Amino acid sequence: MAAKRENSRQRIAELREQLNFHNYRYYVLDDPVIPDSKYDRLLRELQDLEVEYPDLIVPDSPTQRVGFEPVAGFADVIHLEPMLSLENAFSEEELAAFDRKVRDRLKSDEDIEYAAEPKMDGAAVSLLYEKGVLVRGATRGDGTRGEDITHNVRTIPSIPLRLLGEALPDVLEVRGEIFMSLEGFAELNAEARREGGKTFVNPRNAAAGSLRQLDPKLTAKRPLEFYAYGIGGQRGLEFPERHSEILATLRGFGLRISPLNRVVSGVDGCQSYYDAIGKRRSSLSYEIDGVVFKVDRLDYQSALGFVSRAPRWAVAYKFPAHEEMTVLRDIEFQVGRTGALTPVARLEPVFVGGVTVSNATLHNMDEVARKDVRPGDTVVIRRAGDVIPEVVSVVTEKRPRKTRPVVLPRHCPVCGSDVVRVEGEAVARCSGGLYCRAQRKESLRHFASRRAMDIEGLGAKLIDQLVDGDLVHTPVDLYRLDEETIAGLDRMGQKSAKNLVRALEKSKHTTLPRFLYALGIREVGEATAKSLAKHFGELDAIRRADLDELQSVEDVGPIVATHVDAFFGQRHNVEVIDQLVAAGVEWPREQRDSKSRGRLKGKTFVLTGTLSEMTREEAKELIESHGGKVTGSVSGKTDYLVCGADPGSKLATAQKLGVTVLDEEQLRSLY
Ligand code: IVH
Repeated sequence: MAAKRENSRQRIAELREQLNFHNYRYYVLDDPVIPDSKYDRLLRELQDLEVEYPDLIVPDSPTQRVGFEPVAGFADVIHLEPMLSLENAFSEEELAAFDRKVRDRLKSDEDIEYAAEPKMDGAAVSLLYEKGVLVRGATRGDGTRGEDITHNVRTIPSIPLRLLGEALPDVLEVRGEIFMSLEGFAELNAEARREGGKTFVNPRNAAAGSLRQLDPKLTAKRPLEFYAYGIGGQRGLEFPERHSEILATLRGFGLRISPLNRVVSGVDGCQSYYDAIGKRRSSLSYEIDGVVFKVDRLDYQSALGFVSRAPRWAVAYKFPAHEEMTVLRDIEFQVGRTGALTPVARLEPVFVGGVTVSNATLHNMDEVARKDVRPGDTVVIRRAGDVIPEVVSVVTEKRPRKTRPVVLPRHCPVCGSDVVRVEGEAVARCSGGLYCRAQRKESLRHFASRRAMDIEGLGAKLIDQLVDGDLVHTPVDLYRLDEETIAGLDRMGQKSAKNLVRALEKSKHTTLPRFLYALGIREVGEATAKSLAKHFGELDAIRRADLDELQSVEDVGPIVATHVDAFFGQRHNVEVIDQLVAAGVEWPREQRDSKSRGRLKGKTFVLTGTLSEMTREEAKELIESHGGKVTGSVSGKTDYLVCGADPGSKLATAQKLGVTVLDEEQLRSLY
């Protein structure tokens, strides 16, 4: 009996060590050495043993992440060392002024070395480890006094319950940021919407809100992540000479630190780092609101000291804000290519995300109702990366008296046709079809766009003139334009007219997938156009295909099939196509799919990170040309993840699911 217990005790210790190690490989090194299934088996074995010997359970066992009971409220916590804030810089000049002050105080003419890393947009936490065991997690609070959120931080997988290594300090306060990935945030909100729950405004609020749950079971469901960026109080830590070495030490303890951290030299090094991170900002899988520079040498840090609550040795160099408040003047409706009416907010111009914004989308009427946006409201506007600015929420406290909710117009604001809204669909549409100028303009824009017929120089403004001047009704009319007519238009000269005619001529030599896509058939995007072209080989065959034949095409379901069938069922559409062909639009015959063709046939790929020898678009075309399929997100159906430099969260997902990860060379070796 005693021998069995001793054996189990040893096995429990072994399992805990192995699980901690694999957690480290997965979360810190981003390089797991066992598949998830194996990890789960080890965890289950440990759970079973702990059920048998409950007295051997310790709080830092990998099984004990969500075991804690809900708390009644948050207890106060006094940090061992205060949690400081950072001075901000908003321009190159302010950054230079910071660096100058640092050098003046240190009486140094040489370039200062700074530890640089992104400023995560999440919630600051302080984690207290005693002899390597996590004993407390706390919010920043007022910097001196925070709230005890131990029960919640324990549920975050990248926060170790026990540090790795032998030479662990007696006491260590680890400081860092808890945040939510954009993907996790989107999923969380999608789920809340499905279940009629409350959505969060942004990932930062979602992270902070998740940490303020009383029940850790709820927090455990939130996709929270952690990066350590420094330390607070400590006892028994072997102190290095530089901040960058502290980070390396933390990493050695099994804590996750930003993979983007670097040591840079002087103000120029700081500026280049800021620029480089700024360029990558929109492709990161989480939000950052700037970069932080800290004087790397710790003796310099001590010499510099603090002013009030901020150190003189660090600065946050902020990016232009993604979100700003402004007043919404009015809501108008824009009519899209398929007649969809999109409510658009007309705003008091506001500088956000690096540009001045005066319009923002409200998506559809459900969204308007859900957010209860009204003319006169003060609203939060968001513009991230290259996405269209959107209205995030209304600041209800600032609502003036006597506002009125917006109603859907009964008639199209452009052509006056009836507006119809299909039961159960969020979108309302103008029923005018190509009679509606707005729909005609949008169809032409789509037809001419880069990924469709690629007519260079035929932009939105020109199309407006051509349609408003009744010069163009269908795409065929474009090919009937002569230089003289074009040159007579606003802001057009002889030279640009010549160029446009040349571009029109060039666009006639196209491919079947592009042409199909250009036609703007509902639900037929680029991928579906490609599938249709590959399956049928020629346009006539698609035209003649019935619903069953259409549905036999990969990715074509009943809805797409109905739209394709309806499109070719309209005499008007067929006439336009015939006239385009008569005007000289042509494409080579598509190689039809056959089962044997394409070595990547039947394989699904996902791309992540920056590839070195080709763009992602090129990689996609390459994979498709060999019969493979490229999708946007990793799932159980993914066969391969092609991974370039600085991959996003897709890599971790792929590793979790046991999906094979390839670099560019390995990809090439597949075909
Ligand atoms: S250093 C004394 N580094 O920014 C220096 N802070 O006002 C203390 N933050 O809420 C902070 N990313 O949580 C530092 N890489 C980073 C950071 C970072 C985000 C947050 C921090 C605090 C605020 C500082």
